[in-house]
Amino acid sequence: MSAQVFTQLTAATLVGEGYGLTGGAAIAVEAGRITWVGPEATLPVALADLPQTPLGHRLVTPALIDCHTHLVFGGDRAVEFEMRLNGASYEEVARAGGGIVSTVRATRAADEAALLASALPRLDALIREGVTTVEVKSGYGLDQETELRMLRVARKLAEQRPVTVKTSFLGAHAVPAEYAGRADAYIDEVCIPALRAAHAEGLVDAVDAFCEGIAFQPEQVARVFDVARELGLPVKLHAEQLSNLGGTKMAAGYGALSADHIEYLDEEGVAAMGDKGMVAVILPGAFYTLRETQAPPIDLLRKHGVAMAVSTDANPGSSPLTSVLLAMNMSCPLDSTVQRISPLAWPVTAVIDPWRSSHRPRAAASQ
Ligand code: NIG
Ligand code: FE
Repeated sequence: MSAQVFTQLTAATLVGEGYGLTGGAAIAVEAGRITWVGPEATLPVALADLPQTPLGHRLVTPALIDCHTHLVFGGDRAVEFEMRLNGASYEEVARAGGGIVSTVRATRAADEAALLASALPRLDALIREGVTTVEVKSGYGLDQETELRMLRVARKLAEQRPVTVKTSFLGAHAVPAEYAGRADAYIDEVCIPALRAAHAEGLVDAVDAFCEGIAFQPEQVARVFDVARELGLPVKLHAEQLSNLGGTKMAAGYGALSADHIEYLDEEGVAAMGDKGMVAVILPGAFYTLRETQAPPIDLLRKHGVAMAVSTDANPGSSPLTSVLLAMNMSCPLDSTVQRISPLAWPVTAVIDPWRSSHRPRAAASQ
């Protein structure tokens, strides 16, 4: 039965100071429930008669959580992959009418059944790797009808598979073509009314936004977050992915659950995350696909005690990836200290759940 069992999620393990691993361990399962975990040599005699399954020195962990996905969308963006290989940047692709708004066209054209049918295999790929909780965003509708349709499909995923789905309203993901050059009007006339409508239908667990030069400025996102606060919804942010606009600091002011991507985050922003108990969501799939060269500030995150999560960012453009295990593996080269702290090929401390308030002690204390 020998295995390594990861049983502890202490503050120390969350910031990578130790893994809480038990080597040569056994797990007792009775009537479908785990009743005992410990070194195999200390297995209680009363449990020794249970049928045994060798675990082959595998690492056994709690179920995995993919806390940042865009799993529901129409169409594909294969053509952009070639554009990027030929040197086009994410911004250049977006400004040429590709990027998020091209998925918006395909998503608006897809009905609920089609969106569900295309999302299920992606979800199944995650489930096969041990994911039991997945966050799913809207953000490819950018009109009220399609944003709500995406969120309804996200809820349906949880009815059709044995997973918990947490939804994030991402109306402020991009400015749709019909509002080109009028981002403020889009926020006021579409994004905020759609958020209210989605919330009224019980479709929203959190509110997200993309704070970037090709998307929305911090003050525009703040207007959406004001409404989230009024509705009692937690917020999170795609922040500092391509440049440092100060979105993370702004989000910290709203007690955000997390700041995601954060390659260009500075120490001031990291400190704000530490103060508020925010989680840093590292997204190596987007880092890789966009051929980014600036790594997120892992050392600073450790210095300020910021908990880190790794997620797939599964989406058709910047991270066509539905493997949490690969995301975990890919996160290692982003961390220059990983070889020093662990002989393991992947950081087992990486996948935690920003939704769990127990991981946000300082934020809770400051409320
Ligand atoms: O997390 N950064 C913005 N949003 C997504 C990209 C979505 C897309 O390219 O379709 C992300 O990388
Ligand atoms: Fe994303």
